[in-house]
Amino acid sequence: MIKTMNKTHLNINEIQKIVSIDLLAVNNIIIDNIGNEVPLINDLSKHILASGGKRIRPMITLLTSCICNYNGKNHLFLAACIEFIHTATLLHDDVIDESKMRRGLATANDIFGNKASVLVGDFLFSRAFEIMVANGSKQILEILSKASSTIAQGEVLQLTTINDCNTTKELYMKIIKRKTASLFAAAAEISAVLSEEKLEIQNSLKIYGEKLGIAFQLVDDALDYAGTSALDKKIGDDFREGKITLPLIISIEKATPEEKCFWTRTIENLEQSSDDLNKAIELINKYDGINATLRIAKKYSIEAIKSLDIFPKSEAKLALESIAIIAVDRKK
Ligand code: IPE
Ligand code: IPE
Ligand code: MG
Ligand code: MG
Repeated sequence: MIKTMNKTHLNINEIQKIVSIDLLAVNNIIIDNIGNEVPLINDLSKHILASGGKRIRPMITLLTSCICNYNGKNHLFLAACIEFIHTATLLHDDVIDESKMRRGLATANDIFGNKASVLVGDFLFSRAFEIMVANGSKQILEILSKASSTIAQGEVLQLTTINDCNTTKELYMKIIKRKTASLFAAAAEISAVLSEEKLEIQNSLKIYGEKLGIAFQLVDDALDYAGTSALDKKIGDDFREGKITLPLIISIEKATPEEKCFWTRTIENLEQSSDDLNKAIELINKYDGINATLRIAKKYSIEAIKSLDIFPKSEAKLALESIAIIAVDRKK
């Protein structure tokens, strides 16, 4: 432990090691709770949940519980709830985005169809709330139900900006704060509530999660144009769909009249030919759209780390700081 505490930050394996026993317990809770007498629910849930995923959100709940010196068992169940809510949103998101690859495998909608994905997403959402009621306080229930409705607002708000080249940075930020940062914020905040920490601690953790979530989504949106084969999703999904993200907004803002025509055709009218994604990436790079997005992500990551200043030095704190660094350095 002393060795790792002297390092500036930890890698993902070292972070996982810190919470390995808890993570195993969370995974067991996940598996136990998808067991069900409806075979399609089992098959589809197992397909997405057993295929991995980075488990960042449950890790945040485990590490923030640790930093708050929580010594019960409820954090394990709440971490599983967070992953259930996240997975439910992914099932729905892949239907909406018509995505074909998730966590390195074919998406559930591709294998089982849209209807099954939507319904099993609903099942996972509801199961999350069943677990929550049994293992959390009313205040935790309030935080997580608020986060869930906020995610839905973010996704619906995003739907209204699709194919709209006039979408502003401000609106984009509002969307990602809702659809992604709200769950990260809740994942961190509930640990303070569970540990009966004072409001100042609760707020610091909430801010940590929110800033980290914003950084995380900014990087996700950059990777959609700049990902390598390490990415376990298909690159170009956002472009194919006409989704307006920051790399695109930056390039549209600076576009020449001819480039504007390109964006109108491909994003607004969704008339795309096979080489258009490459052309889009070229234009995004011409205006430094990826690096500019990553720079903003870095700024949020630094703010996330700063919000942990209130806590004394510890291995869990170092791990949380490291997650914020990895979130902006990641390739997947
Ligand atoms: C994907 O989240 C959805 C976004 C908010 C970008 P993750 O990248 O955490 O997905 P998994 O759980 O690791 O598959
Ligand atoms: C994340 O948005 C979805 C939610 C937070 C609900 P994206 O659509 O960008 O996520 P990916 O890229 O499909 O994982
Ligand atoms: Mg998507
Ligand atoms: Mg994405």
